[in-house]
Amino acid sequence: MPPAPDRSRFLAACRLEPTDVTPVWFMRQAGRYLPEYRALRERHTLLELCHEPDLAAEVTLQPVNRLGVDAAILFADILLPFEPLGLGLTFTAGEGPQITRPIRDPSQVAALPPVDPAAELGFVLEAARLAARALPPEVPLIGFAGAPFTLASYAIEGEGSRTFARTKRFMYAEPAAWHALLERLAELVGRYLALQAAAGARALQLFDSWVGCLSPQDYTAYVLPHTRRALALAAEGGVPVIHFGTGTTAFLGEFAAAGGDVIGVDWRVPLDVAWQAVGPTRAIQGNLDPAALLAPAPVLRTLVRDVLARAGGRPGHIFNLGHGVLPETPVAAVQAVVEWVHGG
Ligand code: CP3
Repeated sequence: MPPAPDRSRFLAACRLEPTDVTPVWFMRQAGRYLPEYRALRERHTLLELCHEPDLAAEVTLQPVNRLGVDAAILFADILLPFEPLGLGLTFTAGEGPQITRPIRDPSQVAALPPVDPAAELGFVLEAARLAARALPPEVPLIGFAGAPFTLASYAIEGEGSRTFARTKRFMYAEPAAWHALLERLAELVGRYLALQAAAGARALQLFDSWVGCLSPQDYTAYVLPHTRRALALAAEGGVPVIHFGTGTTAFLGEFAAAGGDVIGVDWRVPLDVAWQAVGPTRAIQGNLDPAALLAPAPVLRTLVRDVLARAGGRPGHIFNLGHGVLPETPVAAVQAVVEWVHGG
């Protein structure tokens, strides 16, 4: 039975309702593995694509047209709020994000300017409006933002990190400034997410991509209250919220306790084990290793089947990767995964 236009199979799964087949979409489904994305990137920088609503909406739709996925994720970046926060944001080819004025001193937290996301991130909201209007009704738009911890890690490190040494030093040495910073970020992203829902996003995802670098105790003490606040504000948008993290196996119960209608997990935990830890009242998203899409087709097929078998056909599973699509991924592999997930 095809999904009713106002009740996509992706949204049904978010609400733990049964679906005809398992819904599927991919983190980073718009990106460098797609030739049509690379073609646009030859003419525009990443930040131009984000700042120009027509282009952002166009990129949002590219994977929907190509792949037949059950949801579209808005084209933007979790670091865009750093621009109105005055931290300075650039992307250098091959090196990822660079923050030009990183937070290294507690006084910088108190000096952060107030940010009105409706105005200063209005270009993202406009892209959401355009994309939502252009999408077929059975393919909802997902809005997103970075979680307080993951954003703080970039704000403090000034770039990506393996050890998060500066972040953790700041957290341990300056707890008052740490909590003030995460409070500011939680308020900002929570309101920003609710605004994305008002602009047409029919689900929201909070990315805590690097939170798995923390011990369970530190997660609970230094991060959980702020994530909970961000998720509570996002919930005011009135649409399902996905709470995603990687490396969260050791504290999945706490991670889920912070909130989210759907919990997103990576491949380092078997899906059934994760779902058990999260509990039966929450939907689950994941969790194929993105590198599986580089495997020969029969191997990939076995790995896809394993994820589906662990979900066991229970309502509330949204098929996804455990993290974003890798740039070297063949488009045909992504298409095959969609077919296999939909075909059973
Ligand atoms: O299709 C989609 O998923 C939507 C668009 C999207 C982007 N960034 C565009 C982008 C989303 C959801 C993000 C989220 C994001 N951005 C996260 C959280 C998800 C994750 O992967 O953990 C993080 C940590 C960032 C920060 C960021 N942006 C990094 C570390 C990088 C460089 C690394 C890389 O993948 O190149 C970016 C750049 C970026 N953001 C690209 C895209 C498509 C790279 C493409 C380009 O240069 O054109």
